[in-house]
Order: sequence, then C-alpha cells, then structure tokens
Amino acid sequence: MEHRVALLGCGNVGKALVGILARKRDHLKARYGVDVKLTYVGDIRCGSTMNPRGLDEEKVLEGLAAGKLPDPFGTIPLEEVIRLSGATIVADATPTNLATGEPGLYHARSALSSGAHFVTTSKGPFAVAAAELEETAKKNGLSFRYEGAVMSGTPLIRLIREDLAGCSIESVEGILNGTTNYMLSRMEEGLSYDEALREAQDLGYAEADPTADVEGFDPAVKLCVLSWVAFGVELKVSQVDRTGISGLTSKHVQRAKMEGRSVKLIASIHMDGGEVKAKVSPVEVPREHPLFGVRGALNAATITTDHLGKVTISGPGAGRDETAQALLSDIISVAKTKI
Ligand SMILES: NC(=O)c1ccc[n+]([C@@H]2O[C@H](COP(=O)([O-])OP(=O)(O)OC[C@H]3O[C@@H](n4cnc5c(N)ncnc54)[C@H](OP(=O)(O)O)[C@@H]3O)[C@@H](O)[C@H]2O)c1
Repeated sequence: MEHRVALLGCGNVGKALVGILARKRDHLKARYGVDVKLTYVGDIRCGSTMNPRGLDEEKVLEGLAAGKLPDPFGTIPLEEVIRLSGATIVADATPTNLATGEPGLYHARSALSSGAHFVTTSKGPFAVAAAELEETAKKNGLSFRYEGAVMSGTPLIRLIREDLAGCSIESVEGILNGTTNYMLSRMEEGLSYDEALREAQDLGYAEADPTADVEGFDPAVKLCVLSWVAFGVELKVSQVDRTGISGLTSKHVQRAKMEGRSVKLIASIHMDGGEVKAKVSPVEVPREHPLFGVRGALNAATITTDHLGKVTISGPGAGRDETAQALLSDIISVAKTKI
C-alpha cells in the first residue's frame, strides 16, 4: 500500500525522519507492505519542495544541510499543498507552543479537514484542542496520532491505547522529563543545582531558558496527553497540581540518597471519584519503587491496571532519531489501520 507524506518542520526531528525514510524504504515495504513516499517537505527556515510522484530523500537532505530547499515556503495554503502533493498523511515536526497550539494546530485542522491523516511530535495541538481534533478525525474517518508527544519514540501512548486494550487503567506514574531527571541524578552525585543545570544546558538537554523543564510545565502537559489517552478526559495544564525542582538543593537530594531513597520529579495521574487528579512534584522514591533506578536523561512510566497489575516501560524521552521513530511508527500504524 502506498502512502504519500507531507512533512512540515525540518529541524532535528523532521530531518531525521527524511534520513530514516531514505534508509528504510525497502525494509518498510518488505516488513509492513507499506510504500512511504515523501511528496512534500516544508520548513519555514529552509523553504519547500514538492513532487507528487515522490521526492528523492537524498536531495532533500542535501537541501536541508545547505539550509535551502528549491521553493519558497508558505506561499500556498496547506489545503492546496495536500491536494497538489497527493498527501495521504501530514507529518508535523514543528515547534511546540503550549499557549496557542500553533503552528501544529493549524496543520492538524487543515490536514484533518482535507482528507489527510495527521501525525505529530508536538504537544501544542494537544494542549489546546485534543477533543476537537480527535472528533474531527473520527468524523472524517482519519487518524490523529501523537506518539512522540510523550516519551519520544518510546511507545507509551501505543502501549496504553493498543497493547493494554481491555485493561482499565487505574493510574500512570512516570519520569517524563529527561532534563530534570539528568539534573537530579547529577545532584545525587554531588553537583549543585546550578552546576547540574549548566551541565544539562551544555549537553543540549536543557534550553537556555529552562523554565518549562525545571518548573514542571513540560511533564504537566504530558499528563494532559495521558489524561486523554488513559481516561478520555481533556485536562488543561492549569488543572495539574505542579511543583518543579527549582526549590531543591543537592543537600536535600543527597540526604534522601543516604537514607536509601532517590529524588525524582514524578508526574502522576489517576481517577478519583470521577475526576482526574494530576500532579507533578519531586518525590523521594524508595529502593523498591519501579522508578528508583531510572537515571540520567532516561524516561519511564508505570501504568497500574486491573488485569495486569503494574506495567513499567522505560526508554529515551528525547533525541532526533528517537523522536523521528515516533513519527515513523505513527505513519506505519496509520497505513495499517482500516478505519
Ligand atoms: N527534539 C526532541 O528530542 C523532541 C522530543 C519530543 C518531542 N519533540 C517535539 O518535536 C517538535 C520538533 O522538534 P525539533 O527538535 O525538531 O525542533 P526544531 O529543531 O526547532 O525544528 C522545528 C523546525 O520547524 C520550523 N518551523 C517553525 N514554524 C514552522 C511552520 N509554521 N511551518 C514549517 N516549519 C516551521 C523551524 O524553523 P525555525 O527554527 O525558523 O522556527 C525548525 O526548522 C517540537 O514540537 C518538539 O517539542 C522534540
């Protein structure tokens, strides 16, 4: 089966997806019977290129490396891009704006109202319009997928939605932010908060403005995604009881370590009397806790279910190829789904 993909946003993740598609074409055909053709690539910084018969990914990569694709970007509306490129799937890897959901929200609305499935790594559209987008997709017989929005390519969303089908989810508890977990691990090893933050910034884990990570906004938004996936309830970030790690000192972290506990920024969600309760806060977890040994930039989550008890998944929570893998797995899922 052939699927034509229009890719929007070609920074770290988008570029990695183009590379993976170039390397894996034969594997995708042989293993899944899916012929994924890239027919449009558009990036606000590098320009755009289109070929409804399929672009040469190597040429696209050359253009991206030079920072210049053949055509200008944004001169035609996305609906027209979808029609002209014959795209059946729009893959979005544009930056996340949690307040407006843009530009992913515009991409999602345009794709789903133009007959194209929509896959994204951005939490933005979700933070603003999860229910609306799911409804539009359903009404139009299309898929809206966002595996990369939580734990990058580590398939937490698919695990909850598909592999645990039939189980009732009682709670999800996780380390959903690699930057703060890295900082806490280094503080356990003796670094001060400022030293750990500087190191995380030098390694590219933390932004120049680290507020979204250290104040817990990033895991709070991820809980909003999980609220929808696990409980079908639309939750806003303002409804998450949120404390970050900026009030912690290495003295606090090391005292917990001496007492056999490890400080983690835990994001948790459960139903309580028909209401979703979501919380992000530093917790001293004991040695026997499933998240005790999760160190460095790794992410992990424990899902408590009725039939299976506790299921824990851990893996990368960020990275170029790791997040492009989330887009790829969503593309394959869409291709294999008969809606
Ligand atoms: N990188 C990760 O490890 C990771 C992990 C999980 C989720 N994500 C999410 O994945 C998305 C992409 O991440 P990234 O690291 O690849 O970001 P990035 O390197 O900043 O790439 C985004 C690209 O999209 C471009 N862009 C901005 N607005 C656009 C628009 N309206 N249309 C088309 N292109 C546009 C940007 O150009 P300008 O730079 O000029 O704005 C940039 O080239 C983000 O939403 C991020 O939160 C990333």
